Amino acid sequence: MQNDEGQSSPAIHNIVYCSRAVHDMDKEALEKIISTARHHNPRFGITGLLVFGSGIFFQWLEGPRDNVTSLFKIIAADSRHSHVVLLTKEDEVRERLFPDWDMELVEVEDISAVLEDAMHEASDPQQKNTLSKMLLELKKSALGNQGC
Ligand SMILES: Cc1cc2nc3c(=O)[nH]c(=O)nc-3n(C[C@H](O)[C@H](O)[C@H](O)COP(=O)(O)O)c2cc1C
Repeated sequence: MQNDEGQSSPAIHNIVYCSRAVHDMDKEALEKIISTARHHNPRFGITGLLVFGSGIFFQWLEGPRDNVTSLFKIIAADSRHSHVVLLTKEDEVRERLFPDWDMELVEVEDISAVLEDAMHEASDPQQKNTLSKMLLELKKSALGNQGC
């Protein structure tokens, strides 16, 4: 595959999942995850974002297929969260969506918008269903007022 300038443009693999934190996650616990991610991800060409609110994680990972797949296996086995639901797993020939984010923690107030976007993008009815349930839970818990 070549771009307009005749250079090869590799496929970007991306994985999006949701999960539930097993214990309360304070700022320190979240920072620990982010700093581990920022330590490892650049070496593997992985970028993305992590959202946390109301006990729910939402993470977008993108990069070379093998690296993203391996990292996801490691993350999915992490005992700090459970109920890991894979929402999207795809290859695309495109620019990265988050080229400068080794792993960015997104503000909690933005989680609803992020999930709503993901819901609009999701093609699988089961994915839409999961996201819609999560949005409902977020609304019930008045996440926006917690300021965590
Ligand atoms: C929600 C969540 C997201 C994580 N995201 C990443 C990540 O993007 N990159 C990473 O290397 N580790 C991430 N981790 C941590 C990994 O599961 C694992 O603990 C870590 O890669 C092990 O690194 P270490 O061998 O240096 O301790 C995440 C953990 C959790 C719970």
